[in-house]
Amino acid sequence: MSEVTTAADNQSGDALENLLTENRHFAPSAEFAANAIVHADEYAKANADRPAFWGEQARELLTWSKPFTKTLDWTNPPFATWFEDGEINAAYNALDRHVEAGNGDRVAIHFEGEPGDTRTYTYAQLTEEVKKAANAFESLGLVKGDRVAVYLPMIPEAVITLLACARIGAIHSVVFGGFSADALRSRIDDAEAKLVITSDGTFRRGKPSSLKPAVDEALVAPGHSVQHVVVVKRNGQDVKWVEGRDVWWDDTVGTASTEHTAVGHAAEHPLFILYTSGTTGKPKGILHTTGGYLTQTAYTHRAVFDLHPETDVFWCTADVGWITGHSYVTYAPLINGATQVMYEGTPDSPHQGRFWEIVEKYKVTILYTAPTAIRTFMKWGEEIPNKYDLSSIRLLGSVGEPINPEAWMWYRRVIGGNNAPIVDTWWQTETGAIMVAPLPGVTNTKPGSAQVPMPGIAVDVVDELGASVPHGHGGYLTIREPWPSMLRGIWGDNERYKDTYWSRFDEMYFAGDGAKWDDDGDIWLLGRVDDVMNISGHRLSTTEIESALVSHPSVAEAAVVGAADETTGQAVVAFVILRGSAVEDADIVTTLRNHVGKEIGPIAKPKTILVVPELPKTRSGKIMRRLLKDVAEGRTVGDASTLADNTVMNQIAESLKA
Ligand code: WTA
Repeated sequence: MSEVTTAADNQSGDALENLLTENRHFAPSAEFAANAIVHADEYAKANADRPAFWGEQARELLTWSKPFTKTLDWTNPPFATWFEDGEINAAYNALDRHVEAGNGDRVAIHFEGEPGDTRTYTYAQLTEEVKKAANAFESLGLVKGDRVAVYLPMIPEAVITLLACARIGAIHSVVFGGFSADALRSRIDDAEAKLVITSDGTFRRGKPSSLKPAVDEALVAPGHSVQHVVVVKRNGQDVKWVEGRDVWWDDTVGTASTEHTAVGHAAEHPLFILYTSGTTGKPKGILHTTGGYLTQTAYTHRAVFDLHPETDVFWCTADVGWITGHSYVTYAPLINGATQVMYEGTPDSPHQGRFWEIVEKYKVTILYTAPTAIRTFMKWGEEIPNKYDLSSIRLLGSVGEPINPEAWMWYRRVIGGNNAPIVDTWWQTETGAIMVAPLPGVTNTKPGSAQVPMPGIAVDVVDELGASVPHGHGGYLTIREPWPSMLRGIWGDNERYKDTYWSRFDEMYFAGDGAKWDDDGDIWLLGRVDDVMNISGHRLSTTEIESALVSHPSVAEAAVVGAADETTGQAVVAFVILRGSAVEDADIVTTLRNHVGKEIGPIAKPKTILVVPELPKTRSGKIMRRLLKDVAEGRTVGDASTLADNTVMNQIAESLKA
């Protein structure tokens, strides 16, 4: 298995001992704890009988068209079923039932467009739109089980499309708008999508940018499965038109009937496919089904974000092209009857205070974003958020990568008014919903640690042979028991599913992440296991050294790779972006090496520190260490096609020549 380092690379996790120690704890305020939705007794209750606990959540949080009598079936691992004989409609749960309960006037979505246009959808209005879209898609020949490729920007039509698919039992497959025509085509082909929903384009940094041309290009070569392309008019750009294939959203959805009855689908009916890149080969179509996915996304959203749907304004900044935009924009907030903000653009347009302007305007109470964004805000300076009234914020979330303690502290102090709890949430496309996170009214939060498995979730850290490691030790993150929102497979490839996730350890799901229990029994995520380095027999995490570097006031961002080294096996090479005047400091490299030495220990001192103007990141904000490793090892830089900005590698090369 390519994602796993070999036994020879992995000495025991003992070298991790004494690393990542963190003594700062933040207890929830008495007021927060008193009003919290979930209490400490939840863990014991849930873990005493996990399937029973999830069965209870499924009944409480969802409305079933046909009640289930079975909870988990795990007789054919690794293929699980949850609530198998039940029937449920996801869209009915997200929409109609709130209207029927008298909450039709509650705002479901405050939409903020990039150019500043706004739209508000109440639950009643959103329900109507989804019914219209469901009718329109059916009139285009879509039936239950068909696949729909969705290539849309962050506009309400994205949520409407997904829920309309779910309503009729069609399976959506969202392709992030930043992916190329080729990537779109391969995903259309793999899922054999019958319909594509797209828009003329969107806006980026004040300018129109297009989407439809990529769909046209993707469909040039014959032999595809697509019958129709529905096009939302968003930026008014001219588009090429294929008669008979292309239809405007306004002409189909816009004119469709607002009457549409939602019928229940089997709990294990596929809800969506979402492609995610593996370390090798073609992207994996991660398959999620209905009942279990809805149960765990709804539960975690309520518990981790302490959601009070009558008063909270939730804002998850993730794009619908990623799992976070599925679980915590499209499904959970609406299932839970929340009011949420949806924003089309980037944080720096038209100015670097845009996020905070939005928080102030909609009085956002819960903000869920990514560490890469937080570090960017740090780089821009706290005087920017300080100009806005952020006092509505009462809870902050983080997802996508480990959040270094310095960023965590900044987030708490500058955005959270030194008061809002921070929930660092670990999960994956494959897990469907949050798996490791504090409970904000219960857990004493700790900067940099995702902390505890969710109630009802059996996360463990194991050694090379799959044995649990004790507190204070590191190893591999695994999941020992099936969970409701787990992936049900890889679309069309059961073998790859077994191989990728269930073959590394016996009867355990292998997440591909390194992790450590600290002495308090809190979990620290150490990055993908292929990012764990081995220096002179000591295991070190790239994340940890990055965290140390970023904790130095002169460093804005850092990325660390393990480069092959004749003497030590691997050597630490760090790429850093400096803040302001630090670029003129001739001794900065020595200063930073010593700083890392002081923070972690002499073994962790980078052998080389390279000052660069930018770091290579994917469109989802993940640093592409593979490319940096190529630079560090003096190789020709490999495939950089998934970079958000493909000039970055040239900028780095130029800066290193200078
Ligand atoms: C990483 C995103 C540390 C991890 C929801 C995982 C994290 C991968 C965290 C999944 C976190 C996600 N702390 N690492 N809080 N959240 N990761 O599929 O390596 O885009 O395996 O899902 O992101 O990324 P994915």
